[in-house]
Amino acid sequence: MTFNEAILVRLSNRKYLDRPLSEEELSLLDRAVRRLNTESGLRMQLVTEEPEAFGSLRKSYGMFSNVRNYIAMVGPSGDHDLLEKCGYYGEQLVLLATTMGLGTCWVAATYDRSACAPLAGQGETLCCVIAVGPVAPERGLREKMVRGVTHRKSKTLAELARGMGEAPDWFMAGAAAVQRAPSGMNRQPILMRYENGSVSAELAEETPYCMIDLGIAKYHFEVGAHGGTWTWGAPGYFEKAREEKSCGAVVWRDTPQGHQYLLVQHNARHWSFPKGHVEKGEREEDTARREILEETGLAVSVDTSFREVVTYYPKPGVVKDVIFFLAQPTGGTEHAQEEEIANLGWFSYQDAYPLVTFATDAEVLQAAEERILSRGR
Ligand SMILES: Cc1cc2nc3c(=O)[nH]c(=O)nc-3n(C[C@H](O)[C@H](O)[C@H](O)COP(=O)(O)O)c2cc1C
Repeated sequence: MTFNEAILVRLSNRKYLDRPLSEEELSLLDRAVRRLNTESGLRMQLVTEEPEAFGSLRKSYGMFSNVRNYIAMVGPSGDHDLLEKCGYYGEQLVLLATTMGLGTCWVAATYDRSACAPLAGQGETLCCVIAVGPVAPERGLREKMVRGVTHRKSKTLAELARGMGEAPDWFMAGAAAVQRAPSGMNRQPILMRYENGSVSAELAEETPYCMIDLGIAKYHFEVGAHGGTWTWGAPGYFEKAREEKSCGAVVWRDTPQGHQYLLVQHNARHWSFPKGHVEKGEREEDTARREILEETGLAVSVDTSFREVVTYYPKPGVVKDVIFFLAQPTGGTEHAQEEEIANLGWFSYQDAYPLVTFATDAEVLQAAEERILSRGR
């Protein structure tokens, strides 16, 4: 699931299942918390198996049940943009948890703040928490009723954004992602503006949590608009990232010992799949075919019914999509293209999975394996 898809399916969850987070869930969340703390200067903390913040028997924060884990949004009190940063970086954790099938809820009011207060050290502020944990796929009646109370009708795009008549598609996509952003009491106090080619986010009204809401909205916009950078503050200004695209494929073959995958080691030393830049006027699958031939010497037939997209930021101001198809060799002579490829080889899934360098490529390999295994079913 991509972050764009997570934005579409995310809802606040207040009722959690009675099971702890799995080791894999914990490790993914923990790694993300540490990475984002380094990037932001915040000290977000993943607190697990700690139900105290959401109502021991003595207290009644009745809307929530079974909250056993949460992320404490803590940061330096002296940071002028602290609340906004909590929104911007915390929402990245919310969307990550959503892609993992976990439920989340931002909580700034209805939790026991005193139980969490020790998490903030001297010179630090606890801004709010984010409940996180396993949830039932279907919402119960009670939860739907709570949502009815806490969830005001969402604003229309026309209420949330100005300048849509002259705005490019990516602005509209960004504004639509803002429309789905969580906000305190669903007040949606943000106004997005497109004016003379410049994009800004400002506050339409001052609400108790508007600066957290602003940070959340900015992150949603960035995902919806497909990459860019914001300045902090209200108004804050958005610079759209330049878009680049590469195409390639997970090349595989059947052998008597089972199927194998073709991996290439780039001269920069990382192991991945053959791929390269789309040339002007080229179709995605033609780029994949051409790049595979150039990098490995192999002619392939491309299966475009498998299409996985990996998005990353290769350098500041640039967002890159890499499209991977499935492909099978049909001819050619295997050899590594010297200028780009140091090594290539065929590997079983068990050997290939730990060898690929980037986690996103490992996910693509996993999807390819599932597709290939499902052939016989
Ligand atoms: C900054 C912030 C604070 C919030 N505080 C609470 C809270 O204290 N209690 C609660 O039940 N929900 C809280 N929420 C959740 C909102 O009520 C919810 O996001 C909003 O109604 C939109 O619903 P949705 O998230 O399901 O789209 C908060 C959300 C945000 C962004």
